[in-house]
Amino acid sequence: MNLSIQQQLSLRPYNSLAVDVAARYFVTVESLPQLQAALAWAKQQDVAVFLLGGGSNLVLTADVDALVIYIQLRGIALLSEDAESAVIEVQAGENWHAFVQWSLARGFSGLENLSLIPGHVGAAPVQNIGAYGVEVKDHLESVLVYDRETEQTQRLSAAQCQFAYRDSLFKRESGRRVILSVTFNLPKQASLQLDYGDLRGYLARQQIVQPQPQDVSRAVCEIRAQKLPDPQQLANTGSFFKNPVISAEQAQQLQKNHPNLISFVQADGQVKLAAGWLIDQAGWKGVRQGDAGVHAKQALVLVNYGTATGQQILQLAADIQADIQQRYGVALEIEPNVIA
Ligand code: EPU
Repeated sequence: MNLSIQQQLSLRPYNSLAVDVAARYFVTVESLPQLQAALAWAKQQDVAVFLLGGGSNLVLTADVDALVIYIQLRGIALLSEDAESAVIEVQAGENWHAFVQWSLARGFSGLENLSLIPGHVGAAPVQNIGAYGVEVKDHLESVLVYDRETEQTQRLSAAQCQFAYRDSLFKRESGRRVILSVTFNLPKQASLQLDYGDLRGYLARQQIVQPQPQDVSRAVCEIRAQKLPDPQQLANTGSFFKNPVISAEQAQQLQKNHPNLISFVQADGQVKLAAGWLIDQAGWKGVRQGDAGVHAKQALVLVNYGTATGQQILQLAADIQADIQQRYGVALEIEPNVIA
């Protein structure tokens, strides 16, 4: 198998935070045999392996002393279809938003609220990406992986993936299983989720009375574009912190001191807070430390204005975490994968 392995390649174009670190070795793989050959090469050379997808949820803090394997498996296959739904297998290297548009154009619904999320399909289950009340787990049937321990492919059901809020088996075991493809089961009869935040209001203002999935997708795109910076124009990695979940008692206490606190009661009685609101109220919106900054329109998003390093972004994050802890007694957890 012929592999084209590059050396000392800048990863700046491969991470949406545009951090300029180098990969010791870098290879693009477009098939399972190529992936296996790349893994075998790394083993033979005794170098570590770093799996790279769309790079939209990464904070790189140093040169990567490894073989970076850039997953570029492509293809979308309609496996089966009946009156109610369609089963579709999507290769890991497909662009997420392009796939969402592909599905909507064919009358398959369910993913409209997840429009415009940056990154590749293969990374979607890792974070269990979510937006506007929908998570990828809601429509995911299975994930095909290559298990580096057993050197076999394996198909995991949604239950086996252990999905939780921005979390999964894949995130916790980092790197053992390489995601090859994701299979979705998408309904043809839409059951739209419009209850989240700005969505219903936006559709009402547009005078859309009976929204179709395509309308919801357009609304999500516009709402996101108003708040979230386009990584092509201003480097970022989406929400930098998870929304914290605290006990009902602590939430009640906080509410007393902060009557405008934004909170959502969870099924288990705990309360999720809007981290963006906490950070905003604490005065961080628009703050800049060199080229590392807090986005001016969404305080949950940290941005790189040019030459910020991963360390500088993490320093800004640490300052925010300390301040939020001190003001509200709430611990903020970093959401993207930090690579030390
Ligand atoms: N808010 C502020 N100031 C801010 C930011 C937010 O007051 O600077 C308030 C908003 O007004 C709103 C609340 O906080 O009342 C929540 O804000 P928003 O609806 O913008 O959502 P979020 O909680 O900040 C989460 C996800 C996003 C997802 C949106 C929409 C997480 C960590 N983030 O953000 O996901 O797009 O909801 O569903 O759960 C991502 O994970 O990278 C991401 C962008």
